[in-house]
This record gives sequence, structure tokens and C-alpha cells, in this order.
Amino acid sequence: MNKNDIFANSTIKDCRIITLMRNSHENGSLSVVENNGSIPFDIKRVYYLYDIPGDAERGGHAHCENQSLIIAVSGCFTVILNDGKEIATFILNRPYNALYVPAGLWREIKDFSSGSTCLVLTSDTYSEDDYVRNFNEFLSLTAPKRDFK
Ligand code: TYD
Repeated sequence: MNKNDIFANSTIKDCRIITLMRNSHENGSLSVVENNGSIPFDIKRVYYLYDIPGDAERGGHAHCENQSLIIAVSGCFTVILNDGKEIATFILNRPYNALYVPAGLWREIKDFSSGSTCLVLTSDTYSEDDYVRNFNEFLSLTAPKRDFK
């Protein structure tokens, strides 16, 4: 699909929480994400946000092709997703819950608890060309949803 088609067809309904495998003992817990068909894409990149001030807001962009899994590996934060027509809010506070974010959605991440770490697993390597960072551009790319549905 080209960029216009991706943004015209992206939907909040494709977002979901994927519950990861949990291996829990009295001496600690372990969760795994692997390319074994349990997640919607093969992982090509891992990055993480840390040392985040409580009043910080991250994100503020959409991706043309890149898909993500977002995990609160420690602490808690809020992810707000917008498909140009509908908005969904997810509070992530469990290291075994991964939020799947398909391409074509505007994302904002905020309300970080002290010491929280936001782990992001992605379908593509980093490319600034894949970003839409201007909200007005996002609104025009998603206009077909509001015009015809
Ligand atoms: P950005 O994706 O805007 O962060 P967030 O969505 O968390 O607010 O990235 C912040 C900066 O880091 C930006 O200058 C691009 C750079 N960056 C990389 O160089 N490689 C990466 O894999 C990522 C995610 C960001």
C-alpha cells in the first residue's frame, strides 16, 4: 500500500494489547517477545525511553509503514492513539502487556511514572522518512475517513 492508502485505511480497531508469555517464580518473572508468529511483524529494531521527566510528552508523530509494540517494562505511562477519526487511550503498567500499534496512527505518550521505561519493538530500522511529524499533514492524510465513512 502507498502512504495515502495506509493513512486512509489505518484504524484504531487494529490496535490491541498482546499478552506476553510470563514465567513467574518467587525469585522473579520473565517475559519474552520473539519472532515466532505470536506478534504481527518480525522485529528489526529495539529502542527504549528512560530518564523521562513526569511531565514529558513523547511521540507526537505517525509512521507510514513502521509497526510497533510498546511495553512498559517498568513503571506506567499512557499511550493515546488517533486514526484521524477515533481516539483510543491505553494505560500501560504491566511488563507482560505489549500494545500493538500498526502504521498510520498518530501517537502520543505521556503521564510517565517516576523511573518508568518504555520499550519499543519495531518492524523496520530507523528512517526519518517514515515519520509524519506534522499533525496537519496527518489530518489531511486521514481526511478520506472523515469524508466518506
Ligand atoms: P522520536 O521517534 O521522535 O522519539 P519519541 O517518539 O519517543 O518522542 O525520536 C527522538 C529522536 O531520536 C529523533 O531525533 C530521532 C532519534 N531516533 C533515532 O536516531 N533512532 C531511532 O531508532 C529512534 C526511535 C529515534
